[in-house]
Amino acid sequence: MEHVYLDNAATTPMRPEVIAAMTAQMQNDFGNASSTHYFGRQAHTALDHARQQLADVLHTKADHIVFTSGATESNNTVINQVAFAKANQGKHIITTAIEHLSVLKPLQALEQQGYRVTYLPVDEKGEISLADFDAALDDDTILVSIMYGNNEVGSVMPIKEIGARLRDHQALFHVDATQAFGLVDLNPEELGVNLLSASAHKLNGPKGVGLLYRDGDVHFPSFQKGGEQETKRRAGTENIPGIVGFGTAASLLDVEQKNARQQQFADFSAQLTAKLTAADVKFAVNGDLARPRLQHVLNLWLPGVSTYALQTNLDLAGFAVSGGSACTAGSLEPSHVLTAMFGADSPRIGESIRISYGMTTTAEQIDAFGDALIKIVRRLLARAK
Ligand SMILES: Cc1ncc(COP(=O)(O)O)c(C=O)c1O
Repeated sequence: MEHVYLDNAATTPMRPEVIAAMTAQMQNDFGNASSTHYFGRQAHTALDHARQQLADVLHTKADHIVFTSGATESNNTVINQVAFAKANQGKHIITTAIEHLSVLKPLQALEQQGYRVTYLPVDEKGEISLADFDAALDDDTILVSIMYGNNEVGSVMPIKEIGARLRDHQALFHVDATQAFGLVDLNPEELGVNLLSASAHKLNGPKGVGLLYRDGDVHFPSFQKGGEQETKRRAGTENIPGIVGFGTAASLLDVEQKNARQQQFADFSAQLTAKLTAADVKFAVNGDLARPRLQHVLNLWLPGVSTYALQTNLDLAGFAVSGGSACTAGSLEPSHVLTAMFGADSPRIGESIRISYGMTTTAEQIDAFGDALIKIVRRLLARAK
């Protein structure tokens, strides 16, 4: 049986070019980038090259890029280190109710330590309102942490507008761009963003490596204490093969390719929803396909069909989708994103699936997936009668 992967918001397969670059790195240059001898210098050259590749993607300078073990570490670093570093200027932080748990959980921990956190609500499209943001911002605000686009429903946040509002404010602006990095041309300086998180495994790079962009004026102590790697911002021997893979993956996607991907993914959603409509299957999109969004994510409500049954049956038929945020879905916890959008009592919470496309997805796969989905939904609904 062919297995079709439609869970690219959870992680993506590595590109052959990435595997080749990493393999060459592991075979030839195993040195520690902190060593001053030949082997160390070779590793350092590879590190510098990857840093420049990622800086180019973000239209910035190489020394604004700090490598981390992934977006979870980048997000935790920002929230803990920046909040502590600015504690004498205020104790208020603004975020949204639909951030990734690697933002929400450290913020909840800060609340236990006397920080005040505003969680901006979202509407049924998964979007925040600038009026709510304006009402929340005050003289005590030191950090604003808002994701570029949501990993469960694909909605995007008004990053440029918030960046503009914060230009003359003491608060630093952090954007978790983990889902957007492979699909959107990002220029943090133009967006008014001071700190940005991204992760290699969402753009066909390796797992366990990410970055934290910081603008030149932002200083924070290393989250991990130890050596002086990453100009004292992140202690620990760098994962050079992973970083080389990250640089390669990011540099293979230019703006045109990102735009083409977004268009192709929008077409997949149109194809799939048209097929469901033609088959008279009852469904609704959690979100709004007509709005600007991250097109690789399609979250569907199938009334009367349990997420668990649907996901399991699709898996048995060879189709891998997610029952919410795949990063937390293993636990079958109700989605905090759908809860924020529709309320805890909404049937959508237990009757929705997330389909997410990537570079290996084809129109034929979407067609076959649509056929399987229609068949399974009909069978499950008939059984429930
Ligand atoms: C929006 C968002 N932020 C952060 C993360 C965590 O990234 P990582 O797996 O690199 O720790 C994810 C992963 O799914 C994500 O989707």
